[in-house]
Amino acid sequence: RPAPPRARAISLVRALLAPPPLPSEPRPGSRASPGALAPPQRLTPILPCAPQNAIATAGKGILAMDESNGTCGKRLDSIGVENTEANRREYRELLLSTPGLGEYIGGAILFEETLYQSGSDGATFVDTLNKQGIIPGIKVDKGLVPMSNSNGESWCQGLDGLSERCAEYYKQGARFAKWRSVVNIAAGPSDKALFDCAYGLARYAAICQENGLVPIVEPEILLDGEHDIDTTLEIASKTWAQVFKCLADQDVMFEGILLKPSMVTPGADSGTKLAPEVIADYTLKMLNRRVPPAVPGIMFLSGGQSEMESTLNLNAMNQTPNPWHVSFSYARALQNSVLKTWQGLEENKKAAQDALMVRAKANSAAQLGKYDASGESAEAAQGMYEKGYTY
Ligand code: 13P
Repeated sequence: RPAPPRARAISLVRALLAPPPLPSEPRPGSRASPGALAPPQRLTPILPCAPQNAIATAGKGILAMDESNGTCGKRLDSIGVENTEANRREYRELLLSTPGLGEYIGGAILFEETLYQSGSDGATFVDTLNKQGIIPGIKVDKGLVPMSNSNGESWCQGLDGLSERCAEYYKQGARFAKWRSVVNIAAGPSDKALFDCAYGLARYAAICQENGLVPIVEPEILLDGEHDIDTTLEIASKTWAQVFKCLADQDVMFEGILLKPSMVTPGADSGTKLAPEVIADYTLKMLNRRVPPAVPGIMFLSGGQSEMESTLNLNAMNQTPNPWHVSFSYARALQNSVLKTWQGLEENKKAAQDALMVRAKANSAAQLGKYDASGESAEAAQGMYEKGYTY
């Protein structure tokens, strides 16, 4: 009987990546001398088709559309559309089937429900994405819950059964994954919350790689708070140091991950707004100090910034070469004007898809450091920050 597809894929990758035996190692098939230690297990394989590199390609970023049913409901509610499975499917179909989207978008993060849905043409959403040259990804965390004995901090659930779920998602066509944990500057952050965030991300990343999925590592540092940008720099530096320590301890292969950081900005309630050049300077300083160049891509979240702000900041970060691909993985900053244009009406579908293309193209230009904000609408400049936002 042939081996199941996942086992076949893993052994293929192992064979491709296996280094030639060192002279001191016993040759394959030879008998180990009695009492010799078993050879160390190879570290986690990375996929030969390397989705992380296909996504981290010039002018491309990620469309994050992995809102849980509750959060998607809030979005639909804002335009008077009922939160039903049919309406979520219709909205997601509008996004995924936007003609030409693959020119600017290399990957789309889906919620589990969307990974298993099909569009009105009968094609699965996975096939629709693949046809556009967009790699399907999947949110695998199970959301945030309050952390005991903390100052209102939270921890991220979802490690139980994760390996089995990843294997199923891979079979369904997902090739990368996302896990979002948060760090709340306004609430401390406490050392235990920071450590839990980093450790959870590292365990998740190792499990994903073992199952052939490229993990996006996302410790979101929330915008909430009155702090200045130097405080954010300090906490972000501490968070990423902890995250990389845990990733290394779990033998996660850095070449096979993508990062999803928050930009380094002042707190949303600080009353300070800084120029994109300043935000870019702080953010890149932090990343250069903490992120090894082996990591292929940095895909920022928008975190409540306006569509234009997040594009301008990304553009500022791409004015000089970086050791990694510096790009976007926005949800709110790609979808806001789409939703407002759509209003749940079939006759607005084309205009809504055009709105998505405007944002995707603008962020693609920003990835190349060539964005020009002169033609932007007033809508795009409107902020989307919400205190205590949950995803
Ligand atoms: P935002 O760009 O709305 O902050 O979304 C972030 C996110 O984690 C989605 O995957």
